Amino acid sequence: MSDNAFSKNILCIGAGYVGGPTMAMIAAKCPHYKVTVADINAEKIRAWQTENLPIYEPGLLEVVKKAYGKNLFFTTDIEEGIKRADIIFVSVNTPTKMYGGGAGKTADLQHWERTARDIFRIAESDKIIVEKSTLPVRTAEAMERILSANGKGLNFDVVSNPEFLAEGTAIPDLENPDRVLVGSKETERGRKAREAIVEIYANWISKDRIITCDIWSAELSKLVANAFLAQRISSINSISALCEKTEADIKKVAHAIGMDSRIGPKFLNASVGFGGSCFKKDILNLVYICEYYGLHEVARYWESVVKINEYQEGRFVQKMIHAMFNTIAHKRIALFGFAFKANTGDTRESPAIYVTRKLAEEHARVIITDPKALHNAEYDLKDILQKYVEFEADPYKAAEGAHAIAIMTEWDSYKALDYKKIYERMEKPAFLFDGRNILDHQKIYEIGFNVYPIGKPALTHF
Ligand code: UDX
Ligand code: ADP
Repeated sequence: MSDNAFSKNILCIGAGYVGGPTMAMIAAKCPHYKVTVADINAEKIRAWQTENLPIYEPGLLEVVKKAYGKNLFFTTDIEEGIKRADIIFVSVNTPTKMYGGGAGKTADLQHWERTARDIFRIAESDKIIVEKSTLPVRTAEAMERILSANGKGLNFDVVSNPEFLAEGTAIPDLENPDRVLVGSKETERGRKAREAIVEIYANWISKDRIITCDIWSAELSKLVANAFLAQRISSINSISALCEKTEADIKKVAHAIGMDSRIGPKFLNASVGFGGSCFKKDILNLVYICEYYGLHEVARYWESVVKINEYQEGRFVQKMIHAMFNTIAHKRIALFGFAFKANTGDTRESPAIYVTRKLAEEHARVIITDPKALHNAEYDLKDILQKYVEFEADPYKAAEGAHAIAIMTEWDSYKALDYKKIYERMEKPAFLFDGRNILDHQKIYEIGFNVYPIGKPALTHF
């Protein structure tokens, strides 16, 4: 079908965890739009064109299949894509900058800026540019400045449309979001661009859930939403440390406080720590912005959310070492799960990376199992691989001859394992550290394990 057969021509630059699923959903819900997803990574683009998608996300393949080849296309030809598009979503990665000013805190905008410059160089007609990547506030303004200096007489309107999907639930989150946020300049052109984006989502989302605002508030809302979510986890994790000292039970405390409708029950699962590509990066970004504006107390407040997370990860490893008689050298330790959460293969900022490295520093032998993340785990640990780390797809085999199991990811499949069978194959005394509190600890203890949950008393046989 020619481009003229479609009422909008949408391009997305960046075919990752955000760009891929979001565009697949738009294409599936809007057969009257042509949606093209472009990336510089040819291998990734090839994978999107097969049934073996480059990311694991429940339900994603069905959505892609609905539209692929009809109105959804994947390409490395960014130039052609830019020429043809009316609307360009930018969802390239913006990792934390690791060099120069703001190192370790602010976002690295080199991919974003390169994209803006590509658009600037290649475009032959007006475009709406939609910022999907998480960016520090006021980036849109800078980008609009770069783009408006084009000397071609073209208009580029930059709109902020932050993505709130969570990995593992991307498809339901996209299909039925709590809200969609679109920010733009409060000018006639800005409002018109904003309306064009609202119109896309209004194909399947009711208008009362699509909110609009100025561009800076939209950008800041994304950072603040993630900071608040992460803060809840650090809050409950900090109390888990107190529970372990005082023999209270964090699950009971979370249940009791969560029944207060002002607090609510979600996001109160104490764990080994939060991971993922967003939380730490966005908080550090917020901290950087606060410092920039001289708000040092506010910066310290939010920074403490990240510090408690690091404390929680550190505490988990210390607990393992201490429980195993203060020496783990040459002991086999099986990590059940490596992804930063269940139902994804993503390992970015996964607490399992930290835990593995710390165990390896103590010369333990770490056997990693995960249903979806082994490939990424190998990449994350390539520098310590042969000496300290093994990978094993089958959790029963991973636990064979192990002194301890540490549950790092809350995969449902780990709840259903036969722990009696696992216990029999392990070295004794056998230890189980439940970094996600997913098992029936009393039952596991009765099998013979020494059990160390998060935020609950340990159950030991000595
Ligand atoms: C997050 C936000 O939820 C999403 O809105 C935003 O768009 C991107 O960042 P994501 O990182 O994919 O999504 O996953 P999320 O479900 O928020 O979990 C983040 C981390 O917190 C995971 O490591 C998870 O295991 C951990 N977590 C979550 C807990 O430890 N306890 C909880 O109660 C909830
Ligand atoms: P996110 O979780 O934010 O979606 P990902 O890392 O999964 O982040 O995806 C970002 C994608 O953006 C990657 O596939 C990367 O190859 C792509 N990318 C980065 N820079 C460019 C660029 N200049 N042009 C096109 N794609 C890019």
